[in-house]
Amino acid sequence: MPLIIKDEYPEKLFRKDGKRLDGRERNELRPIKMEVGVIKNADGSAYLEWGNNKIYAAVYGPREVHPHHLAKPDRGILRVFYRMATYSVFDRKRPAPGRREKEISMIISDCIEPVLFLELYPGTSFEVFIEVMDADGGTRCASVTVAALALADAGIPMKSLVTAVAVGKIDKEIVVDLSGIEDKAGEADLPYAITWFNEEISLLQFDGDMDLDELNKFLDLAKNALTSIYQIQLETLKSKFLKLSEEPSIEKEEALIEGEK
Ligand code: CDP
Repeated sequence: MPLIIKDEYPEKLFRKDGKRLDGRERNELRPIKMEVGVIKNADGSAYLEWGNNKIYAAVYGPREVHPHHLAKPDRGILRVFYRMATYSVFDRKRPAPGRREKEISMIISDCIEPVLFLELYPGTSFEVFIEVMDADGGTRCASVTVAALALADAGIPMKSLVTAVAVGKIDKEIVVDLSGIEDKAGEADLPYAITWFNEEISLLQFDGDMDLDELNKFLDLAKNALTSIYQIQLETLKSKFLKLSEEPSIEKEEALIEGEK
């Protein structure tokens, strides 16, 4: 679905058949596709298509901290750089990182840090570069999800993956995974993430208007959605290791050559 400029926001966010403008049910996620190992020069990487969002994450580390004064003698540090490409949104985004990108980078870092064993890597840094190529609502949640996958792809010890999704309210109805139009024209938006090793909330932001009853419904809906997204993360990682185990090893190749002699 194309992005819509502000003056063109639709009056209603549900169609006559009760579905959302992009044809989804209230509890339905946009299509999600993930891949790992997509950037050759990174220690780990991942790519995520989530609806119209297209996002890359590249991970480096543990490595020396630059600038040196940021290094901590008793633990490693996690640095996240979330960037939106100038062409990723309807209006050209200014190329220099703005306040929004700095805030989102910090949120993503806070959200992922609990799953890392930073105390085992004193004086070093882990760096996660997130590039949003196409944005259409929910990029911070999508970025958390793809960054966790890239860290796992790098083989960095983790307590678990982290998964995020936004739930919100449009035309007074609670829905999961807001698209860009729903995010802008809706009444509430609640990005939510959990760390799976302890099932604790590692991100909960809120923008809009809701009561306590609604908040509990929001969280239930988010939990179901998170479970589905987590399964895709796991399947993506498993398929990488299945492919690796199917690739002929040097020993197997030597045995074959030996057998042919
Ligand atoms: O992407 P997310 O929902 O996490 O963050 P947001 O700040 O609530 O932005 C919602 C959406 O607005 C983004 O996903 C983009 O589609 C859009 N946006 C934009 O069009 N121009 C910007 N400079 C920033 C965001």
